[in-house]
Amino acid sequence: MSVNKELIVVLDFGAQYTQLIARRIRECQVYCEILPYDVPLDTLLAKAPIGIVFSGGPASVYEPGAPHVDKRLYDLGLPILGICYGMQTMARDLGGVVTGATRKEFGKTRLEVVLKNDLFAGLNPELVCWMSHGDTVESPPPGFEVLAVTDNCPVAAMALPGKRFYAVQFHPEVVHTPWGTEIIRNFALNVCKASGSWTMESFIESQVRSIREQVGDKRVVCGLSGGIDSCTVAALVHKAIGEQLTCIFVNHGMLRKIEADQVRDKFARAFNINLIYVDAEERFLARLAGVTDPERKRMIIGEEFVRVFEEQAEALRGADFLAQGTLYPDVIESGTKSAAKIKTHHNVGGLPEDMHFKLLEPMKYLFKDEVRKVAEELGLPSDMVWRQPFPGPGLAIRITGEVTRERLEILRNADWIVIDEIKRAGLYRKVWQSFAVLTPGTSSVGVMGDQRTYAYPIVLRAVASEDAMTAEWARLPYEVLERISNRIVNEVPGVNRVVYDITSKPPATIEWE
Ligand code: XMP
Repeated sequence: MSVNKELIVVLDFGAQYTQLIARRIRECQVYCEILPYDVPLDTLLAKAPIGIVFSGGPASVYEPGAPHVDKRLYDLGLPILGICYGMQTMARDLGGVVTGATRKEFGKTRLEVVLKNDLFAGLNPELVCWMSHGDTVESPPPGFEVLAVTDNCPVAAMALPGKRFYAVQFHPEVVHTPWGTEIIRNFALNVCKASGSWTMESFIESQVRSIREQVGDKRVVCGLSGGIDSCTVAALVHKAIGEQLTCIFVNHGMLRKIEADQVRDKFARAFNINLIYVDAEERFLARLAGVTDPERKRMIIGEEFVRVFEEQAEALRGADFLAQGTLYPDVIESGTKSAAKIKTHHNVGGLPEDMHFKLLEPMKYLFKDEVRKVAEELGLPSDMVWRQPFPGPGLAIRITGEVTRERLEILRNADWIVIDEIKRAGLYRKVWQSFAVLTPGTSSVGVMGDQRTYAYPIVLRAVASEDAMTAEWARLPYEVLERISNRIVNEVPGVNRVVYDITSKPPATIEWE
C-alpha cells in the first residue's frame, strides 16, 4: 500500500491547531499531510487526495490580504471539511454571509445537531464542542443546510451534501470537543470513503520503496546522535539500501553511561549497519578546558562537531545523500517561529552546510510518537525507543562551569543512579526527563562515618511536560527521592548532598544551562 493512497490534505490557514487536525486524521488510520492554503493546484492534484480539510486561522475573511483558496478547488469533486476560519472562507467563497466579532464565543459550548447528517452520524444530537472564534457565518451559501447550532452561533455546522462540502465553526480536533475525533472519523471514512487501513507497517513499506527509488545505487551518509530520531532514520534507510548506508557517530565524551556502547553494539552491530565511530573525547575536552560560559560551551561543541565531520570527508565525499531524522513539527515550525533566543540548541547530528548533499528525510511527515511506532516496528531496542530526550551538548550543559573529566565522571555516575531508580519505580516513561546536574562551584560540609566531608552537591531534576516548551517539576514520591539521595551519596565519591529542583519552566528552563 502506498503512503499517498487515501491521503487527506489539510490546507493550513495558520491556526495553532493545524497539526492536531493532521494527528486526529491519522488516528483514524488515514494518512494526512498539511500543505499551505495557497499550494498550487497542480501540486495538490499530483498528490491525489481523497479529501481536503481547511484549517482554522487568525484572519478575518473580508479583511484585505486575508488568505483564500484557489476557487477551482471547489470544482474538483473532492469532499471538503472547513474548520472555523476554514468554514468562514468556504462560506464567503460560495456566497454565504460572514459577520464580524459581535458574537464572539470562546470555550466549551453546548452544540445541538438539528439535522441528521453524515458528519454527526452515530453521535448524540446534544454535544459539547470547543469554540474559539470572533467571526460567524450568519447565513450559509445557497444550497447549504444548517446541521448544528449553539446559543450564540446560528450556523455552528453546515453542509452541501450533494458536493460533499461540510464545515464546522468549532474545533473537533481539540480534546475539549469530546466527540471531535468521531466527527473527523465520520468525515474521513463516511464522507471521503477512506478505508482507514493506514498503519506504520504500510508507512515503512512505502518509504523503503521510495528510498530505493530515490537513491538508486548511490551512497547515503547519516549522522547518528544516539537519539531515537537519527537511529530510526538510519534503521529505515538501512532496511531500504543496506550496505549503501554509512553512519557516523561522534562520541564527544559527554554522553551518559553506556550510551556510546548502546549505539555501537545494540544498534549498529545488531543491525549490521556500517558505522564510523569517532572517539573525540580528548579533543572536545581540550577545547572546553577553562570555559565556563554556557553559550560559549554550546558554541564550541557545535563547532567541534562540524570539524569532526569535515575530517570524515572521505566517507562524506563519496556520498550523494544525507539522511536526516527531521520530523513534522520541525518542518512546519521552520520559518514561522520568531521566538526570542534563550539558548543555542545544537542538534549534534548536524553536518556542515557546504557539503552539498541531497537530503533524504523519510520521517518528515511523522510526529514523535509515530517515530516511536516506526522504531518499534523496525525492532529497535525498547530502551532506545523510549529514551528520554537528551541534549546534543550532553552532560556539558549539566555541569555548571568548567567541564572536566573528573566532573563528568561524578555526574555520569550520579545520572546513572537517577535513571536506574526512576526506572525501578516505573516512572521512566511517566516523566519527560529525569537527570542529575552537578554544580561544582558550590561545596558543602557533611559527615560520613565520623569524618567531616566537604564535597559537591548533586541537583536532581525531573519534569513532566508535553513538548518541553513548558514543564512542571515532577512530584516524585518521597521514597524515590530518598533512595536516589542515599544511593548517590553512598555510591558516588565526591558528592555528599542531594537537592531537588522544584522550579517549573517557565521561569526556569529544563536544563541548567
Ligand atoms: P530547555 O533547557 O531549553 O530544554 O528547557 C528544552 C528541551 O530541549 C532539550 N535541549 C536540547 N536538545 N540540543 C538538543 O538536541 C540542545 O542544545 C539542547 N538544549 C536543550 C532539553 O533536554 C529539553 O528536552
